Amino acid sequence: MKPHYMITTPIYYVNGAPHVGHAYTSIAADVLARFKRLDGYDVFFLTGTDEHGQKVEQAAQDKGETAQNFATMVSAQFRNMADKLNVSYNDFIRTTEVRHIKSCQDLWKKIADAGHIYLGAYEGWYSLRDECYYGEDELTTTPDGRKIAPTGAEVKWLKEPSYFFKLSAWQDKLLEFYEKHPQFIGPESRKNEIVSFIKSGLRDLSISRTSFKWGVPVPGDDDHVMYVWFDALTNYISALGYPSIESSDLWRFWPADLHLVGKEIARFHALYWPAFLMAADLEPPKRIYSHGWWTVEGEKMSKSVGNVIEPLKLVEEFGLDPVRFFLLREVPFGGDGDYSRQSLINRMNSELANDLGNLAQRTLSQVMRNCGGQLPEIGQRNQDDEALLSKAILLPALLREQMDRQALHESLETVWKIIRASNAYIDQQAPWALKKTDPERMAVVLRVLVDTLRIIATCLQPFMPDSMDKLLNQLGVSETERQLADLEVAMPAGRELPAPSGIFPRFVEAE
Ligand code: MSP
Repeated sequence: MKPHYMITTPIYYVNGAPHVGHAYTSIAADVLARFKRLDGYDVFFLTGTDEHGQKVEQAAQDKGETAQNFATMVSAQFRNMADKLNVSYNDFIRTTEVRHIKSCQDLWKKIADAGHIYLGAYEGWYSLRDECYYGEDELTTTPDGRKIAPTGAEVKWLKEPSYFFKLSAWQDKLLEFYEKHPQFIGPESRKNEIVSFIKSGLRDLSISRTSFKWGVPVPGDDDHVMYVWFDALTNYISALGYPSIESSDLWRFWPADLHLVGKEIARFHALYWPAFLMAADLEPPKRIYSHGWWTVEGEKMSKSVGNVIEPLKLVEEFGLDPVRFFLLREVPFGGDGDYSRQSLINRMNSELANDLGNLAQRTLSQVMRNCGGQLPEIGQRNQDDEALLSKAILLPALLREQMDRQALHESLETVWKIIRASNAYIDQQAPWALKKTDPERMAVVLRVLVDTLRIIATCLQPFMPDSMDKLLNQLGVSETERQLADLEVAMPAGRELPAPSGIFPRFVEAE
């Protein structure tokens, strides 16, 4: 039996088209999912769209569409983005699906039956944009008297009857839970923020709305629809067949191993979600990891500034794998990052075309020319050879540890260290010069390089699946030998290698 692993992205709001921020989370989650598969895990990778709420209702109205049609249209754009980005999701959930609605209503009933929900009235400062209420102390006032949330969104005073979740009763239990599960929230800085937020006192949470209709009806009270976050968070279990936990084959994936989210929604995941689950007597997920935000040439990405980066346009211009690589290489995962066209081009040219592309091309063209296109024997290795190979073979173990901390940038740097060492090795050994003086030694050197490239390409598959597929083909690695565990078995000498062709072209700016 394979060990299993469940990973999720946030489900994206359908009130606007996908941009590079959404692409970022999905690509990062994809890399983690692919890495686990590469490492022999049975993976369930979930993504989808969050389709209810007042913002969607309004966006649909503005376009003269029904909310349902509008949601279907935008959801398809998100799904298309995932497909075009090679995001290997196992399921794409939509919160307007019947399976999800039933699941939300069941979870609600279970929590209500256990006495954790009551009917009250809510009034407070509500932000339509953020879909949440803010406390007076969190707001700032503009010179013309408007109240502004910490996110920059405007808030309005709203009063409505509402069901409440007794969040205040969970304060100590949540803190205890974090103590017992020190890995629950990452990175550490975010954990500290959430802990101090809880310690400052939790208020009960309003979890229903009467001011609009586009949502999941509260069971037994049709005047109310569920608060969009109660609805949205439930997607993680409705996709697994909740409440049919006895009969659903997918329920074995719960608790999820990782909910990957952006930093602005860490609180919803690390605080509300485990409280809802514990109130329903279900296990909380194992870990919430939140990454930072992208700005564009130093500015916040926004429609009004006109600097929104569309992921599919980037892919069209630069190719998919360079974009995937750039997003994860440029910024330490967990921190904020800034997109600039020039830094993408620099990464492409220096690290993909020069460092890795040339290494592969130089090695493989020599094997083709000087070894008859056949994989050379391992032969007699010397200290220099062993020095390089012994470092390369450590990659899987190093990556495993880094990926479990979601340190994706560290993994890329670890692989690039080996790429740089391989380039130094090839320059120093100069196999092209050995061709005449010592052909046997030349063959050993080229085989060391092929073996090192095989380790590099195997480990980079999650980041750049298409390009590494090409490279592994050129290295003579068959499709059944591409798991991390396969690296323990040497490839037999004499394999015919196909003619090499460049994997990463240099990007030249059009005049
Ligand atoms: N629907 C909620 C999530 C519910 S999950 C149960 C939501 N949707 S969203 O469409 O606003 O997507 C937010 C997520 O998109 C962020 O958490 C982050 O993963 C990603 N990003 C959106 N903009 C981003 C940047 N500028 N930079 C990086 N990631 C960003 O919130």
